[in-house]
Amino acid sequence: MKDIYYVGYVDWEVRNFHGYSTHRGSSYNAYLVKGEKTVLIDTVKRPYFEYFLDKIKDICDPAEIDYLIMNHIEMDHSGSFPLIIKYLPNAEIIASVRGVDVLKSHFHQEVDAEVLDKIRAVKDGDTLEIGNGKKFTFVPIPMIHWPDSMVSFMTDNNGKNVLFSNDAFGQHIATTMRWDDENDLCEIMEEAEKYYANILLHLSGLIAKTLPVVGALPIDLICTSHGVCWRKYIPEILEKYRKWSAGEIEEKRVLIVYDTMWESTAKIAKALTKEIRHRGIPVKRFRLTHADYSDVITEAMKAKAILIGSPTLNNGLYPAVAEYLCYQKGLKPMNKVGLAFGSFGWGGGAVKEIIEQMKAAKIDVLDEKIEIKFVPKPEDLDFKEIVDKLIEKMG
Ligand code: FEO
Repeated sequence: MKDIYYVGYVDWEVRNFHGYSTHRGSSYNAYLVKGEKTVLIDTVKRPYFEYFLDKIKDICDPAEIDYLIMNHIEMDHSGSFPLIIKYLPNAEIIASVRGVDVLKSHFHQEVDAEVLDKIRAVKDGDTLEIGNGKKFTFVPIPMIHWPDSMVSFMTDNNGKNVLFSNDAFGQHIATTMRWDDENDLCEIMEEAEKYYANILLHLSGLIAKTLPVVGALPIDLICTSHGVCWRKYIPEILEKYRKWSAGEIEEKRVLIVYDTMWESTAKIAKALTKEIRHRGIPVKRFRLTHADYSDVITEAMKAKAILIGSPTLNNGLYPAVAEYLCYQKGLKPMNKVGLAFGSFGWGGGAVKEIIEQMKAAKIDVLDEKIEIKFVPKPEDLDFKEIVDKLIEKMG
């Protein structure tokens, strides 16, 4: 890119990002932009500071940097902030109004109050001209991903208009190729979908409101803070965000998640899978002790119906099911139909808890439920009627 340099770190090794499984690694993207003035946009996770500094030094003397824009203060982007500012004696630091507060809250022990007090707080629509036809406009995007988040939109009379979008439109993927069209689009979209499901899904209401504002900008390029940058498939990723934030389902499909102690709940899960498959409806099934919650919640976002099963243990839920329900509750998948199933020996309790938790998560739960004592008989596993009702409710 003309006048824009990548100074981020591609993390091939990371496989867990605060609980989110990153099977394909990730990256912490940062950029250096040169006009008449020089701008550094975001930093990287602290362990990779030296690499980040070396990349900057390959392009310019850090002392020549005039501005440091901090689009978001989560530590994957701000971890190197206290270290890099020691090399930027001439840089003005810029963040959103909330970003200034969060920088102070994070770094009061490492950065002098005098430095923190001088950070420039920008509001919606504030601008920064850096010469050579380049102008930044700052747009706060609160809660995408934290209250402090903002995007920096750079118009360039001599080049492309670039949205430095930070977390928005990111993907956790490590790659040597920076652009969407240089990579396998299926892999990128899969990771963008998983990223949305695990990080942004519960913020969909705010995203739906913000997206038209961002989408109205005359964007040529999107430079994200994770994964690849967008140049060819910008309309596609914007449309995906529109659909995901609206809770639109592309295809009627069913997700079955369960766990089992002595195989009775597994028998129910398998019989339900068979009955739904016979109706020609795609169905996926995960046993929670062997599944990755980050992958399962991605399937939950795409499914119309979520069927959750648990054996009763100590009058309540099997631990893996309880843990998954907690994760799902926080992420709030929208527009779902639910069904609870399980087995018990004497008192029961798990199915009741699944129903309560699904209702609390605003899932439209079937009145019918499946509860089987000890080991199911063949006739217990005839689910034609309940699957009819499920399909009717799915619409
Ligand atoms: Fe990539 Fe919210 O940090």
